[in-house]
Amino acid sequence: MATVTFDHATRLYPGTERPAVDQLNLHIEDGEFLVLVGPSGCGKSTSLRMLAGLEDVNGGHIFIGDRDVTDVQPKDRDIAMVFQNYALYPHMSVADNMGFALKIAGTPKADIRQRVEEAAKILDLTEYLDRKPKALSGGQRQRVAMGRAIVRQPQVFLMDEPLSNLDAKLRVQTRTQIASLQRRLGVTTVYVTHDQTEALTMGDRIAVLKDGLLQQVGTPRDMYDTPANVFVAGFIGSPAMNLGTFAVNNGLAEVGPARIPLEREVAAKITEADKGKITLGFRPEALEVTSQANESAFPVEVNIVEELGSDAFVYGTLKGDLAANADIHSGAGDNQIIVRVDPRNVPAKGERIYVAIRPGNTHVFSTATGLRLS
Ligand SMILES: Nc1ncnc2c1ncn2[C@@H]1O[C@H](COP(=O)(O)OP(=O)(O)OP(=O)(O)O)[C@@H](O)[C@H]1O
Ligand SMILES: [Mg+2]
Repeated sequence: MATVTFDHATRLYPGTERPAVDQLNLHIEDGEFLVLVGPSGCGKSTSLRMLAGLEDVNGGHIFIGDRDVTDVQPKDRDIAMVFQNYALYPHMSVADNMGFALKIAGTPKADIRQRVEEAAKILDLTEYLDRKPKALSGGQRQRVAMGRAIVRQPQVFLMDEPLSNLDAKLRVQTRTQIASLQRRLGVTTVYVTHDQTEALTMGDRIAVLKDGLLQQVGTPRDMYDTPANVFVAGFIGSPAMNLGTFAVNNGLAEVGPARIPLEREVAAKITEADKGKITLGFRPEALEVTSQANESAFPVEVNIVEELGSDAFVYGTLKGDLAANADIHSGAGDNQIIVRVDPRNVPAKGERIYVAIRPGNTHVFSTATGLRLS
């Protein structure tokens, strides 16, 4: 087992102007499950492929343990990769698929058989060892791909969207299985996904990338409770955080009729570039449905109610002053706001409700830089 370190690792594809991965600094602990997450094209696969040795590193270094592997051949890095398309050999049995890399490496037959059987046991594949991949379900194929990585007993597992071929239900099941398997094996793992829920549920820590730049690294809690900037705030969490830009006067953010006090240290960080404004984030659960009589409440017209059993969310359009004067948006769009409501008492579509931000439940960002101030 080993640590993994990206040290200013940069990848500039030939013929492009901006690096796909720009000076990535990231240290992954021995045995850690680290999830690289971000929108399409942000550089996740490129980062993983640099670590695998499948992509040139144009600047900086990559270490596995203390060893600088920047220029080491992929086969000499002691890693195993699981891809999105499992790339199983169709004409080989499950057992042969799983043992293939060992066979190529010249491992004695008996050893291969033993490791394959062990892995099959862990993955619940014992009864399928003699089948061909086409006679397996999607989930079973995914487990064969995992098995192929496990039998190699590598120092690091690299996984690039390994669940994206599975249907929603199987994806949820399999992500729990992979996470608990990784913890049992204790092998350092770098896992790529664009799905923030997968990131939150699987990772010991999460690294968020955008446009090739690392935005923040932290535990799922850190990312949810203290996003470092507006991008991470909007990306992590489902449904997404509501974000709005508001005027500040005398240390109070003017959110429609509400006056939200800013902490003194926070207010002191506002600069001229912010032009007297501040960006506030408030998650759907930071809003409460109240009455028109509440002087901090603002009106929202209900467009859709999403009922999830244990939870319910209103997707609504801001009405009144706030709609005219503030710049509010959420994952649902401009002037749209998402509110968690009591699932046993949901408003009707078209209804006008009054919502207020619960005190102390806002995230404060600089309007100019997008960086967290609170
Ligand atoms: N071989 C290549 N040549 C030129 N540009 C490339 C090449 N491969 C990837 N890119 C560009 O580099 C950027 C990062 O790509 P990458 O595949 O790492 O994204 P990703 O985060 O894995 O996205 P996705 O979630 O869609 O898989 C993108 O802008 C992509 O267009
Ligand atoms: Mg990718």
